[in-house]
Amino acid sequence: MAPLTPLTRVLPSAASRATSLLRTIQFTHPPSCPCHSNPNYHKTPTSLTQRNYEKNRQYATPVDGALAKEYAFEMAASSIRFGPGVTQEVGMDLKHLGTKKVCVVTDPTIDKLFPMQQVRESLAREGVNYVVYNNVSIEPKDTSVKEAIAWAKAQNVDSFLAVGGGSVIDTAKLMNLYTTYADAPFLDFVNAPLGNGRPVDRPLKPLIAVPTTAGTGSETTGTAIFDLTTHHAKTGVAHRNLKPLLGICDPLNMRTMPSAVKASSGLDVLCHALESWTAIPYTERKPRPAHPLQRPAYQGANPISDVFSLHALKRTVKYLPRAVHNPDDLEAQSEMLLAATLAGIGFGNAGVHLCHGMSYPISGRNPGYHHKGYEVNKPLIPHGVSVAVTAPSVFRFTAPSNPERHLAAAEAFGVDITNAKREDAGEILSDAISRFLEELGDQPKGLKPLGFTSSDIDALVEGTLPQRRVIVLAPGIEGGENDREVLTRLFEHALERK
Ligand SMILES: NC(=O)c1ccc[n+]([C@@H]2O[C@H](COP(=O)([O-])OP(=O)(O)OC[C@H]3O[C@@H](n4cnc5c(N)ncnc54)[C@H](O)[C@@H]3O)[C@@H](O)[C@H]2O)c1
Ligand SMILES: *[C@@H]1O[C@H](CO)[C@@H](O)[C@H](O)[C@H]1NC(C)=O
Ligand SMILES: [Fe+2]
Repeated sequence: MAPLTPLTRVLPSAASRATSLLRTIQFTHPPSCPCHSNPNYHKTPTSLTQRNYEKNRQYATPVDGALAKEYAFEMAASSIRFGPGVTQEVGMDLKHLGTKKVCVVTDPTIDKLFPMQQVRESLAREGVNYVVYNNVSIEPKDTSVKEAIAWAKAQNVDSFLAVGGGSVIDTAKLMNLYTTYADAPFLDFVNAPLGNGRPVDRPLKPLIAVPTTAGTGSETTGTAIFDLTTHHAKTGVAHRNLKPLLGICDPLNMRTMPSAVKASSGLDVLCHALESWTAIPYTERKPRPAHPLQRPAYQGANPISDVFSLHALKRTVKYLPRAVHNPDDLEAQSEMLLAATLAGIGFGNAGVHLCHGMSYPISGRNPGYHHKGYEVNKPLIPHGVSVAVTAPSVFRFTAPSNPERHLAAAEAFGVDITNAKREDAGEILSDAISRFLEELGDQPKGLKPLGFTSSDIDALVEGTLPQRRVIVLAPGIEGGENDREVLTRLFEHALERK
């Protein structure tokens, strides 16, 4: 097994660290807020304000802007309603919105199950007019999303209701986006460099999301993910305007989830929590956007996301094994739904990094693996499986950037860290994650059991490099030539584990 690149080789030199520290000190002074950009805004400027204005005007020039680090973060999340039976309230919500025609989006499985029965009853009771699109494809591809959009364009709806897992909620977000911008080419809003990264500058139609997995947290985020078939990798659209208006989180909808779906959607939660908790701090993200509206949703770890991410991690470690191993444990299912939503708020504002960035080519280049317990008639590496499979390698690599945080994460897995050495943080957390995956059961022990070999690694690295939006949030990823080498080591290390 190839050793990971020592972190000293991928970290900036001491000199550049010192300059970067200096810059942090300089740039963490709050620059003028937009209303202050008018120097006459303060009728009687104090000398301090005047000084700040002068100084900050300098920082705001485009040249400095490209070098400057971020100084602010923003917290966005959907409203959430949580409780057993709340699905029955959705008719009331849509009626209050005054909708004339709702597009209900679901997949063929959920369409026949309890969550959709509840939705149909509730809409009928409130006299809400609706049409159902029930052909969402699991782990959607651009092709299936385009079919859904084409269908929606012909329907003239004024609102959306997504009932399902991440596949459904994400497809509904894209149906909403591309019916609002009916003439936009499909790649327009997709993350650069695979797409054009056009910002969403209009409000979309109201979308209410009813998650049936625990889960992607997609009910709280502005992210929609799909597989771009031409590139054999997942990508997506990420903008706050895609966020659902309301997430209706009903633990009763979790009961029909097959145990394999509980496990993989729960591992997604685990990685959302771990990755957002260990992402670079928002104050280290470069460049500071030229305009506050261009601040990305994935900002780096911040004091508010930390609260959500660490809490979600602790709940997932405690309740996921129970939810997977005992189908009658309603408390565990309910706690997992809560953890998924909490993690969604955390990573939706902080971002995810390497497990997710590396998972996108893993699922897009699936050599033919069918995950046990998934009732779909196509090869599928479920999203949660594809993120968790590299987690032991990833956190071993990121630990030296912030040993305390990685040890705190290990502690969340029940490891006694009282006498742990900082330099062992990576090994300790990596072992804790491997043990957790082992005990959960039915998880591939690396990329080899999924059908990958060392000859696939170059392609996997090529598919990860364009995932800049997420990988730049990883400590140790610098955006330069070194990244290729780092990613190669990480994939090699993830090929098999003990
Ligand atoms: N938007 C985001 O921020 C975000 C975050 C993480 C993942 N994702 C994406 O979400 C997708 C994965 O979503 P997911 O893990 O929620 O699962 P999913 O929507 O892909 O569903 C998985 C399977 O479980 C079934 N299922 C779902 N809920 C069920 C229930 N209550 N009862 C019975 N069967 C049920 C579905 O029919 C499907 O067969 C991936 O495409 C992934 O890339 C998005
Ligand atoms: C449902 O989606 C699949 C895959 O995208 C497609 O092949 C099929 O034609 C669709 N069925 C209907 C009824 O639209
Ligand atoms: Fe995810």
